[in-house]
Amino acid sequence: MKSKLLEKAFDPSEFKQNGYQIIDILSDYLQEAQQNELPVTKHHKPENELGFWNRTFPIDNYTIYDPIKIFKSIIDRSIHLHNPNYMGHQVAVTAPLAALTNVLTGLLNNGMAIYEMGEAASAIEKITTEFMCKKLGYQEGSGIMTSGGTLANLTALLAARSKMIEKDVWTKGHQPKHVVLVSEEAHYCVDRALRIMGFGDDGIVKIKTDDHFKMDLDELNLSYQENVDEGNHIMAIVGSAPSTSTGAIENLNGIASFCQEKNCWFHVDAAHGGAAIFSPKYNHLLNGVEKADSVVIDAHKMMLTPGIMTFLLFRNKSDSYQTFSQKAQYLWADDHSEEWYNYGKRTFECTKEMMAVKFYILLQTYGEKLFEKYVDNQFDLTREFAHIIKENDHFELATEPDTNILCFRYLSPNHEPNSLNTSIRQKLFNTGEFYIVQTKLKGKVFLRVTIMNHLTNKTNFQKLISKIEELVLLLKD
Ligand SMILES: Cc1ncc(COP(=O)(O)O)c(C=O)c1O
Repeated sequence: MKSKLLEKAFDPSEFKQNGYQIIDILSDYLQEAQQNELPVTKHHKPENELGFWNRTFPIDNYTIYDPIKIFKSIIDRSIHLHNPNYMGHQVAVTAPLAALTNVLTGLLNNGMAIYEMGEAASAIEKITTEFMCKKLGYQEGSGIMTSGGTLANLTALLAARSKMIEKDVWTKGHQPKHVVLVSEEAHYCVDRALRIMGFGDDGIVKIKTDDHFKMDLDELNLSYQENVDEGNHIMAIVGSAPSTSTGAIENLNGIASFCQEKNCWFHVDAAHGGAAIFSPKYNHLLNGVEKADSVVIDAHKMMLTPGIMTFLLFRNKSDSYQTFSQKAQYLWADDHSEEWYNYGKRTFECTKEMMAVKFYILLQTYGEKLFEKYVDNQFDLTREFAHIIKENDHFELATEPDTNILCFRYLSPNHEPNSLNTSIRQKLFNTGEFYIVQTKLKGKVFLRVTIMNHLTNKTNFQKLISKIEELVLLLKD
C-alpha cells in the first residue's frame, strides 16, 4: 500500500507552495536585514536558546508543525550577515542567486564521488578549478573542490608529504623526522592538519612574525638552518594570504624563492585572500602565489557563496592525485589512473555536495567582474575605516590593513587595555547592534572587524566608533 505520508513529502505541488512562501519570507528578510531594520543578532544564552526550541517545537512524535513557522523562528534567532553592521568572522554574505542554487543542488543531491553520480557537476568542477588555476597563474595546474579550508589544507599537506617524503607514505607510513615551517599567525587548522598527520609538537615549527604580523624571512632562514643542523627534513613551508587574525598577507614571493632554493613544497593558505586574484587593483598582494605548489581558496569567504566550498589548486596537475591511492572496487575500475572525472579519487569526501555549481552560476550570470568589484569594495572600505581609526586619539591600529580585516583597540589611562577591550567587545555584542570579534596579538587584546558586507559604509564605521565610546563612558574606572 502506498504511504500517504511519503506521497505528501514528495508532492511537487506541496514543494511549489512551500517554495513560494519561503522565497517571499526570504526576500522580505533580505530587504529588512540589508536596511538594518533587524538587529544583527539577538543573543540568547545557550541554555535559553535550547529552552526556546524545546518549548516551542518539542519533538514528541505527536505534534506536526508548519515548516514556515519553523523557518521564521530560525531566521529570527540567527545572526544576520546581510545587515551592514555585521563585521564579524570571515563568512560570506551570500549572493542571493548562490543561495537559490543551494536549493537546486540540494534537490538534485548528486553524490559526486564518481562521475556517474554527478556528470554535470563534475564537468563544472573541472571547468571552474581550471579557470581558477589560470587566474592564479598556473599554466598546467589542476584542482579539486572540497568541504572547507580546513580540509583543503589537510589534503594539500598530505599531497606534499606523499611527494616530498616518499611516494608510498600512504601505505608505509612516516619514515625519518620531518618538519613543516609555518608562521606563528597561521590559522589553527594548519596546526591541526599537521597533528592529524602525526607531526606532533616538534614537527610543527612556528616562525616568528615581524611588526606587521607577517612571517619574518630572517627567522625562517634561521629556523630552517637549525632544523637542517638537527638532521630534520623540511617537508613544506606554509605561507598565509592572509593570516586570519590581522588579515596580513605574507611575502609570498620571498617565501617562494626560499622554497625553490631549498627544494621545499610551498603551500599557500589563501582561504580568505585568494579572491584578490580577481582584482587588478589588489592582486599584487598575492605576487608569488603562482610559484606555490598548492593553494587553498575558500569561495565561502570572499566569493559570495554559501558554505561550504573550497578550491584546492595544484601547480602541477599530477600532484592533485598524490594524496590518496586506495582500493574501492565498487566505485571505480582502475585505482591508479588519473581520471579527472572521478573526483572521489582526489577528495576526502565520498559523497560530496555539488559545490562548484554555486560559484559557476555566479560567474556565468554576473561575470568575474562581480568578484573584482566585491574585493575592491571591501578592501577599499577597510582602508577607509583604518583612516577613521587613525584620526581618533582613543584608538590604536594593530597594523595597516592588507585585506578587509582590521584590528584596533581602545586605549584609556583609566583602564587596563586587555580587559577594557574584552569588555567593549562583550558589551557591544550584547547590544545586538553590531557584530565584531576580538583577537590577541603578541599578548594584546584587539577588537577585530572583517568588512564582509558590501553595504557597510563610512556611516556604519562612525556609528560603531561612537557606540564604543559611549560604552566606555558607562564603564566604571
Ligand atoms: C587563513 C584561513 N585558513 C583556513 C581557515 C579555515 O577555513 P574553513 O572555515 O573553510 O575550514 C580559515 C578560517 O577562517 C582561515 O582564515
